[in-house]
Amino acid sequence: MSATRSVEFDVKDIGLAKQGKLRIEWAEREMPVLRLIRERFAEEKPLNGTKLVACAHITTETANLARALQAGGAEAILIASNPLSTQDDVAASLVSDWGIPVYAIKGESTETYNRHVRTALDSHPEIIIDDGSDVVATLIKERGDQVKELVGSTEETTTGIQRLKAMEIAGVLTFPTIAVNDAQTKHFFDNRYGTGQSTLDGIIRATNILLAGRNLVVVGYGWCGKGVALRARGMGANVIVTEIDAIKAVEAVMDGFRVMPIAEAAAVGDIFVTVTGNRHVIDGDHFARMKDGAIVCNSGHFDLELNLVALRGMAADPVTMRPFVEEYKVKASGRRIVVLGEGRLINLAAAEGHPASVMDMSFANQALSVEYLVKNKGKLAPGVHLLPPEVDTEIASLKLQALGISIDTLTAEQIEYISSWETGT
Ligand SMILES: NC(=O)c1ccc[n+]([C@@H]2O[C@H](COP(=O)([O-])OP(=O)(O)OC[C@H]3O[C@@H](n4cnc5c(N)ncnc54)[C@H](O)[C@@H]3O)[C@@H](O)[C@H]2O)c1
Repeated sequence: MSATRSVEFDVKDIGLAKQGKLRIEWAEREMPVLRLIRERFAEEKPLNGTKLVACAHITTETANLARALQAGGAEAILIASNPLSTQDDVAASLVSDWGIPVYAIKGESTETYNRHVRTALDSHPEIIIDDGSDVVATLIKERGDQVKELVGSTEETTTGIQRLKAMEIAGVLTFPTIAVNDAQTKHFFDNRYGTGQSTLDGIIRATNILLAGRNLVVVGYGWCGKGVALRARGMGANVIVTEIDAIKAVEAVMDGFRVMPIAEAAAVGDIFVTVTGNRHVIDGDHFARMKDGAIVCNSGHFDLELNLVALRGMAADPVTMRPFVEEYKVKASGRRIVVLGEGRLINLAAAEGHPASVMDMSFANQALSVEYLVKNKGKLAPGVHLLPPEVDTEIASLKLQALGISIDTLTAEQIEYISSWETGT
């Protein structure tokens, strides 16, 4: 750990800051909504002196969120929400150009990752921005005495909200938390278009394969899965979907995809992408059925969607063919299975995560959620909350404005018609 501009930090190389700053500024051009919020925050200082920990993928877009929080007066510390997602130049620039303490190194061990979570908690945060709920879970498990200092938290992703709801049921969630993921201006766009594009970007950057004509299996047809399937089809892949939810499966069928159980898909897929937020959705039995050269990756939050322990048990030691590309040879069949990004989020491990334009709305939600928690300190009941719906509409309106697109408004006649019942056939 080192210190510069009088802040503590743990980043790979502070000398990378110059490149990081340019990339942060590049992303900022695609984040007009967050920029407007930052400018307002700079004037109004709604977060003045608030001690905040943000656990996020340390990317150019997150850097712009951190700038907005800092402009609002927050004392923010940043840590990585995944050992492989940090952009080291961005981490360096945040420390060196903005004086924000960052603890994140691409490729950090699980031990270092957990140490960073604990270091962040040592700052006694009043607000936690979480992505996957690791910070909140550690707070509850290990720092019970600190929980009362928390005004509230926000949660970025589907998996994190699933964990928070489990905490609520277990009776351990004693503070308010905002489910940022559940805002429409978050998951409609970030999970679908962001994950859709950046997951394919990660696969292509890691392997340089052609998607056209390949059988690409999408495991899970939720918001992320829909995005991956639609974008893969757009690049000419034959998309197969696997699901456990009958409604999502019908949706996939009517969207024009083949749907079958994973045990069947395993034998025909060329490329597999898991996006379920669930454990071992590709298991040892499925690896055993795969074709020679099958490529497998995950874009769900945690690295447990692929049962890599089972694969390691079936195969010889992997060979690293290219960065983020490991080839396993199954002993029984001699077939090769290629795992990308160690089974961690492929879009962040091998590419740069979502494009700034979608993160603009996700992080506008984060910034406004933090402001909402601070404004309503002591007034919100413990549990999982949504941001008020008018905030969603405001973010979408600002995005349209930034895109130079205007839409219609209801006429007085239309308002009267849709609020009455008398007029029919
Ligand atoms: N890569 C990224 O940058 C990124 C971005 C957003 C969300 N995520 C993560 O991606 C995951 C999915 O998020 P989402 O918003 O699409 O969630 P979602 O709840 O909308 O979709 C998940 C889908 O997986 C299905 N599913 C569950 N178990 C399955 C199984 N065994 N086989 C097949 N399907 C199964 C569910 O029925 C559901 O339709 C979560 O872990 C989320 O945190 C990642």
